[in-house]
Amino acid sequence: MSNWNPSSWRDKPILQQPTYPDDTLLHNVENEIKNYPPLVFAGEARNLKKQLADVAAGRAFLLQGGDCAESFSEFNADNIRDTFKALLQMAVVMTFAGGVPVVKVGRMGGQFAKPRSSDTETIGDVTLPSYRGDIINSVEFTESARIPDPKRMIRAYNQSVATLNLVRAFASGGLADLHEVHKWNLDFASQGTMSEKYEDLSSRIQDSLRFMEACGVTSRTYRTLRETDFYTSHEALLLPYEEAFTRQDSLTGNWYDVSAHMLWIGDRTRQLDGAHVEFMRGINNPIGIKAGPSMEPEDLVRLCHVLNPQNEAGRLNIIVRMGADKVAKGMPKLVRAIESEGFNVVWSCDPMHGNVYKTSTGYKSRPVDAILTEMKQFFQVHKAEGTVAGGVHLEMTGKDVTECTGGRFHISEEDLKSRYHTHCDPRLNADQSLELAFLIADTLREAR
Ligand code: PEP
Ligand code: CO
Repeated sequence: MSNWNPSSWRDKPILQQPTYPDDTLLHNVENEIKNYPPLVFAGEARNLKKQLADVAAGRAFLLQGGDCAESFSEFNADNIRDTFKALLQMAVVMTFAGGVPVVKVGRMGGQFAKPRSSDTETIGDVTLPSYRGDIINSVEFTESARIPDPKRMIRAYNQSVATLNLVRAFASGGLADLHEVHKWNLDFASQGTMSEKYEDLSSRIQDSLRFMEACGVTSRTYRTLRETDFYTSHEALLLPYEEAFTRQDSLTGNWYDVSAHMLWIGDRTRQLDGAHVEFMRGINNPIGIKAGPSMEPEDLVRLCHVLNPQNEAGRLNIIVRMGADKVAKGMPKLVRAIESEGFNVVWSCDPMHGNVYKTSTGYKSRPVDAILTEMKQFFQVHKAEGTVAGGVHLEMTGKDVTECTGGRFHISEEDLKSRYHTHCDPRLNADQSLELAFLIADTLREAR
C-alpha cells in the first residue's frame, strides 16, 4: 500500500467534519482513545470478509440494518435487544422462506456521526450549526448544544463497548438459539398480519428442529443452531476517531480499523481525491461505498481500483441508494461498468436514503411503498443483468415507532407525531421491517 498511513488522510481535502473550538482538547482526546482497547478483532473482520465473498457469489444474503444515528439518550438494553431481535427475525424469515444463509451486520455499536446536507439549521429567525450526531454535538436546538465537543468521542466509544458487549451476549448466550424463534416476535406486533405470518413460519421451524433433533442434530451438537455470527458497522465519517482505532494486526501485520467489523463511505464523502477514500483504502476491513444518483460509472470504477486494487472477494460492498424513481434507470449502467471490469463486489440495496420527503406537517419521512418498490427494482435489474442481488442496507428499529408512512398498519402522515423518535432519518418499525423481509424471502426463493 503505497504512501498510506493511518493519518495520511490529513493531507487531503475533507468534507463533513466539525470545527472543534479547542485544538488542545481534541489532541488530548485523540491521544487518550488511541490507547483504548479495540472493539473488534482483525480475525473477526476477516471472517466477515469471507462471508461477504459468499454473498458476492450468490451463496448468502447480506442483511445490514439499525439506527440512522445511535444516540446517547436512547441508549438502553431494551432498544439494543429489540433491534437485535428484529434483525434475527428478518434473517430467519429470509433463511427459512428464502432458502439462503443470511450474514447479519448491525448499524450499531458506533453509528454516531452524520453527514448533513447543510452546515446550518434555521428555525424561525435563529440559525445554528447543524446537528452532526451525538459523537460530535447535541441535537437540542441551542447555541451551546451545537458546539462540537471532542469528549463526546469518549462517550460514544464507551456506549459502543457496552452495546457490543450485550450484542455478543445475545448472539452466543441463548437468545439467538433457533429454538427461541417464537420469542423473537416483538410484542406490539403480535396483533399485526405480519406477526401471524411470522408465527406460522416459526411453528414450521420448530417442527423442522424436532425432526432434526430426532436425527441427532441438536443445539448441543451444532453451534449454528444455538448461536449466530453478528457483526457491527458504521459510516467512517469522523476520521480523527477512526484513525485512533486503526491498529496493526499482530498476526498479519495489516492495518484494521477496530472500531467496527465493517465501515462504509457515505454518498457525500466519496470523492476520489478526498480524505475519506484515502483513509479507507489502507484499512483491511470489508468496506462499503454508498452510490447515489450522481454516481457515474467511471467514478465507481476508479473507486474500485483505489479501494480494492487486488480485487479481493468480500472486500467491497456497493450500496446503491438511488430512490424508487431513479434506480431502474441509474443502476444498470453501474452494474455493467463493474461487470465489464471484472470486479468482484457485493451489491446491496439501501432503499431508504433516496426516498426521503418532507410531510406537510414538517416531518422527514419515507413511504414504505417507495422502499418496497426500490427493493423490487433492485432485484429486477440484477435479474436482467445476470448479476447477484447481494443484500439490503436498512434504517430500522425493533420498536413500534411511527416514522415511515404506510405499511400494513397504514401509518399516515397524521400518525407520525405519535411515536417519531429518530435523531436523524426515519426508520422502518419492526412490523414494516418484517414486511420487507417476507418480500425479500419470496424474491430469493423465486430466484432459486
Ligand atoms: C446514512 O446511511 O445514514 C447516510 C447518510 O447515507 P448516504 O451517505 O447514503 O446519504
Ligand atoms: Co440515514
